[in-house]
Amino acid sequence: MVHKIPENHDHEPLLFPQDFLWGAGSSAFQVEGNVKDSDWWEWEQKALPENYRSGIATDHYNRYKEDFTLAKELGHNATRLGIEWSRIEPKEGIFDQEQIDHYKEVLKYLKANGFTVMITLHHFTNPLWFSQKGGWENRKAPWYFNRYVERIVPELQPYVDLWLTINEPAVYTYLAFYTLDFPPQKKSNWSIVKVAWNMAQAHKRAYKTIHEHIPNAKVGFANSVQSFTKIHLHSLKESIAEWISDLTSNHFFYLLTGMDTHDFLGLNYYTNHYITTPKDKYFPTTLENINGRKEVSDLGWEIHPEGMFDVLMDLSSFHKPIYITENGIASTNDDRRSRFLIAYLKEIYHAIEAGADVRGYFYWSLTDNMELHRGFDPKFGLIEIDYQTQKRIPRPSAYLYKEIIEHNGIPHEFLKFAGHTVNVSDVIKIDN
Ligand code: BGC
Repeated sequence: MVHKIPENHDHEPLLFPQDFLWGAGSSAFQVEGNVKDSDWWEWEQKALPENYRSGIATDHYNRYKEDFTLAKELGHNATRLGIEWSRIEPKEGIFDQEQIDHYKEVLKYLKANGFTVMITLHHFTNPLWFSQKGGWENRKAPWYFNRYVERIVPELQPYVDLWLTINEPAVYTYLAFYTLDFPPQKKSNWSIVKVAWNMAQAHKRAYKTIHEHIPNAKVGFANSVQSFTKIHLHSLKESIAEWISDLTSNHFFYLLTGMDTHDFLGLNYYTNHYITTPKDKYFPTTLENINGRKEVSDLGWEIHPEGMFDVLMDLSSFHKPIYITENGIASTNDDRRSRFLIAYLKEIYHAIEAGADVRGYFYWSLTDNMELHRGFDPKFGLIEIDYQTQKRIPRPSAYLYKEIIEHNGIPHEFLKFAGHTVNVSDVIKIDN
């Protein structure tokens, strides 16, 4: 039997709050090219095959005008970009004014084009001199970082609206000192403790420094958040594992810093993890996906939009404004990216309706980029990069996103990708 959709079902677009920020993000190292004074550059020459090295990346350092002009044409009213510490302070204590001026030019260009600007001060890569001194393990690391922040904030202040101190400290710590995908590839639990602590202290100092220069600045960090789903609903072990995973992944850095050094929460949400206990094991383990259950990205990350709703509702308990500082999909199938966008934005819409104070969304990423240790294969961009010619080619999903931005919400006809909006009261009679 074919069910009829109730005639009075909702045909309105899913509207977002007024002044919502719509944009996309990037990190300096992943797009600029030739970041030669950084630890990653030095490491990749030794440790990675040639086609995994950053090289000129997307040459964004020289082509930023083209990239941001495209972003503007695609309707974006905000952007998230990074600056590279190793360019600004290539030698210990020596600051390069030419590089600072370069970033000022970039930011001026963004402002002249009406963008709200979110800047990241640290995104995985370090100056080589800093890592030679022990990097984030060095107990003076927060001091070194603060010296750079102290120098750069007065210069960039007129052009920056939102400041992110550090991108994903938990991911950096985990990949550099546990899975060993990032330099310095040092397996050590003690290093993990030191690095996490020092990054938290660095955030706190930077927060204070930025506020000393700009009393009403808006400062946060980009927190990598994930949702967790236990498979065996009544398993106590899995419940405990779920609780611990959520705490260590989503809340840990807030616990380390305290909540008074966050004017907003920056959240990077991509995917879910399942928690299950394999037959031959006593302790539960996490899985990235369950074969065949849902669509996955080219990196095997499950498309799990409902997790976005869950983390937003959870972290809303801090009563701070929230920005989605990263959310995106690596896919060579751009239809999948369009479905991804609609499905995740729909969950953000519902979270806002349910009380989450979400103020902006930054798709990851504006263009294809150098996906760190994974090289150039994963395609996250709204804009494709032809690496032979460095030509920029907006994908259809970029135009779909543009329409969403123009509507300040998801137009009804897009919802056919994700299901109609039907209110409970359209389907069943509710007696109040
Ligand atoms: C990082 C980005 C990265 C993205 C996709 C995030 O964890 O902040 O730098 O490109 O994941 O892998």
